[in-house]
Amino acid sequence: SSDVHDPLRRAHELAARFYHHLFMNTEQGRNAFQYMENRGLTEQALLHFQIGYAPNERSSLTTLLEKREFDVQSLESGGLLQFPEDGRKAYDRFHNRVMFPLHDLQGRVIGFNGRTLHKESKPKYLNSPETELFKKNEILYGFHLAKQTVRKKDQLVLFEGCMDVISAWMAGVDHGMAALGTSLTTRQAKLIRKLTENVVLCYDGDHAGREAAFKNAQSLQSVGCNVLICPIPDGSDPDEYIQTQGHEAFRTLVYERSQSVTSFKIQSLRREKNLQREGEQRLYIEQVLEILLDIESAIDREYYLKELSFEFNLSMEALHTELNDLSRKQH
Ligand code: CTP
Ligand code: MN
Ligand code: MN
Ligand code: MN
Ligand code: MN
Repeated sequence: SSDVHDPLRRAHELAARFYHHLFMNTEQGRNAFQYMENRGLTEQALLHFQIGYAPNERSSLTTLLEKREFDVQSLESGGLLQFPEDGRKAYDRFHNRVMFPLHDLQGRVIGFNGRTLHKESKPKYLNSPETELFKKNEILYGFHLAKQTVRKKDQLVLFEGCMDVISAWMAGVDHGMAALGTSLTTRQAKLIRKLTENVVLCYDGDHAGREAAFKNAQSLQSVGCNVLICPIPDGSDPDEYIQTQGHEAFRTLVYERSQSVTSFKIQSLRREKNLQREGEQRLYIEQVLEILLDIESAIDREYYLKELSFEFNLSMEALHTELNDLSRKQH
């Protein structure tokens, strides 16, 4: 085709094949391969996700591109290479990292997520910069691989990172994608909604993960999705959970323990409190009511009020009065 981005697209395809080859077949890629094996990845998964390795050399990709007669200078803003200020020769952007190729919606490579092999070196993940081809917040990791399965299962599981998507795939949860981090744009939410209206948010069991789940649940609901949250235990993430608890346990967590956003919030609140203490019980009830204020459906609200009423032996009347007071205070 006469696409103006053709050289950059071809450079990305070549880079992906180069990195993958080094990773799978060479002595140079051995450490990286072992690192991923130690993390539990099967050869099948490494092939499916086209995992690669960027070697620890100044310009191995640059040299390859030159050999294949690319006009290296024209790739200046393409994100694969770096061009020193002083006009010296270009060199590679990625060094000594495990490479996760990132694809556009049609499955063409447009960027990379590169993970360090060593705890000490920062950043943990080095991404391609935004380029004419790569717009991080317009894609979802794994989109082209999982979209058919998402349609078939009429459900999508959304993760934070590549490793979560890949481990889940090995565990049989093969309708997963990731927004590569905790933020989700409206555009990505709409992309998801085109495939299915049922989304399970499977974010990390930490503060950032929970906050992101609440925020993204709202964006997804506002484009018409039904959202459940998968309760990954504190201090863990989906990948770690799968490695430590196994495939079966993970599937149970996703398919049987995922909860509505409201239930999830209430349960998180509950874990922070000692309900045996009267003062904390009082605070807990008030905070649950605050959560219920955000619910639009009167039926849903009634359902959670009944649970409170039952658990703490309070009349529905008292709870409604309290809820109305709170609502007045807020407005
Ligand atoms: N991320 C990033 N840059 C960082 C940290 C994270 O781009 N410095 C993105 C990566 O795509 C990463 C995702 O956010 O996969 C989730 O971050 P985090 O939970 O910190 O990483 P993990 O996926 O758990 O990475 P790993 O298991 O390899 O440590
Ligand atoms: Mn299995
Ligand atoms: Mn995280
Ligand atoms: Mn994580
Ligand atoms: Mn992780």
